[in-house]
Amino acid sequence: MGAMSEMPADWKERIGLDKVYDVAGPEGNRRLYASWAETYESGFVVDSGYVYHRQAAEVFCEEFALLDQPVLDVGCGTGIVGAELARLGVSVIDGIDISPEMLAEAEAKTHDSRPLYRRLIEADLTASTALADRAYAGIVSSGAFTHGIFGPETISELLRAARPQARFALGINSAHFDKAGFGDWLQQRQSTGLITGLRFDLRPIYAGADESDPDQWSCIAVFAAV
Ligand SMILES: C[S@@+](CC[C@H](N)C(=O)[O-])C[C@H]1O[C@@H](n2cnc3c(N)ncnc32)[C@H](O)[C@@H]1O
Repeated sequence: MGAMSEMPADWKERIGLDKVYDVAGPEGNRRLYASWAETYESGFVVDSGYVYHRQAAEVFCEEFALLDQPVLDVGCGTGIVGAELARLGVSVIDGIDISPEMLAEAEAKTHDSRPLYRRLIEADLTASTALADRAYAGIVSSGAFTHGIFGPETISELLRAARPQARFALGINSAHFDKAGFGDWLQQRQSTGLITGLRFDLRPIYAGADESDPDQWSCIAVFAAV
């Protein structure tokens, strides 16, 4: 199937997202991505006209000047966000993901003849992780704050791993954003002084995104740690 210039009514079924959205929790996701890793890019990314990785990296880099400081790619998968970050000049990128099969794809990627990622960490981000305190100057994500993967509470673990003033650009599926209460959760963290500069940037997940379908849009939460 070629990339879809407009999303047909049955787009979720055509690219298999109806089944993906039924999976929930770390064990289900580990199994899902074990079987999807090999064809994730050549199948899903190409067939759906996925542009989310580029959107998240671009929003992240719009105001991020610390290009030689460590950046964490959350739910990095096969590494397509890392590739965009490197293209935009970010030079120290770590990736974290629950799936060893997705991480193996990321590990094989290079930029300027060097491994794309400095470090790849296998961990479940719905629980506490071994990420060091205050390790990252930037934190970015696409495709992982969505149905069945991360709710707002995962952001607490990321805030622990963020340096003061660290810049965040977290892509959140727009339907999931409303259902899981990300808006209130983030506004509350801003009122209690944990984050600052909160804004939302609405970006398409797919090239032919239909304006009326929130599952085809990402609300990218941009803020800084305090
Ligand atoms: C839709 S993919 C997005 C991958 C990549 N960021 C992209 O935009 O192509 C979601 C990723 O989240 C990871 N994931 C799912 N549950 C997780 C968890 N509990 N902890 C860490 N990563 C998880 C999956 O293994 C998968 O690689």
